[in-house]
Amino acid sequence: MDGGRVTVKDKGTVVPSIPTIAPAGAFDEADRDAVYRAIYTRRDVRSQFRPEPISDEVLNRLLMAAHHAPSVGFMQPWNFIVIRSDGVKSQVRAAFDVANNEAAEMFSGEERVLYPHLKLQGISEAPVNLCITCDRTRGGPVVLGRTHNRDMDIYSSVCAVQNLWLAARAEGIGVGWVSIFRDVDIRAILGLPDHVVPVAYLCLGHVTELYEEPELQASGWRQRLPLEQLLFRDRWGEAM
Ligand SMILES: Cc1cc2nc3c(=O)[nH]c(=O)nc-3n(C[C@H](O)[C@H](O)[C@H](O)COP(=O)(O)O)c2cc1C
Repeated sequence: MDGGRVTVKDKGTVVPSIPTIAPAGAFDEADRDAVYRAIYTRRDVRSQFRPEPISDEVLNRLLMAAHHAPSVGFMQPWNFIVIRSDGVKSQVRAAFDVANNEAAEMFSGEERVLYPHLKLQGISEAPVNLCITCDRTRGGPVVLGRTHNRDMDIYSSVCAVQNLWLAARAEGIGVGWVSIFRDVDIRAILGLPDHVVPVAYLCLGHVTELYEEPELQASGWRQRLPLEQLLFRDRWGEAM
């Protein structure tokens, strides 16, 4: 067979046939700059959402970008739950409030003082909420590449999140990731079956302004680490 699928030759030998390939040179300068611009100016958004809806056309482009993420064994373990219902949003918001009050008690010192002043979600203000999940059974019990690390499917769904996040930046759509929930609450609200993991709960909406740096950095919570501190040569702990 062609199209990159395996071919059974004489004596039952299975060899991959050569798939169609495309040129893969560097982007021209403007396109390359646009990619880096999306990466460097992407922000986690909590407060800048505008009320106007996201058109189906734009939302579909974002979802398609997410769906083109890499995935282990091409498992594509994600589903996308698009939430516009005020009722569902207010249940999610209530679940956040419970967890966020618990979280506030976990810090000490200056962080304990600062934490209640941080805005860590935009669930109600964002016109669209989106839950990206991971179906741990997709592709059957043995998935290529996931044979020795079962969590590769979760990582794949995270790749979908990042694809969507960067595409959203290019579309002028802000995205905020909200993770402060008890798992059991979000599962119950969204009716998730046991084999499906809620990987990311995202708030999406048009934005006209974004922070120039991470909001947590602007508020003094934490600074970006210097890249040099994070680089090792050949093995853990060896300076470059
Ligand atoms: C897995 C994950 C979970 C996050 N959960 C939250 C959250 O619950 N609330 C929040 O305000 N931001 C959340 N964020 C956003 C981070 O705070 C943000 O990415 C970080 O401060 C850097 O800012 P930037 O995304 O604007 O560069 C989350 C980000 C990731 C990747």
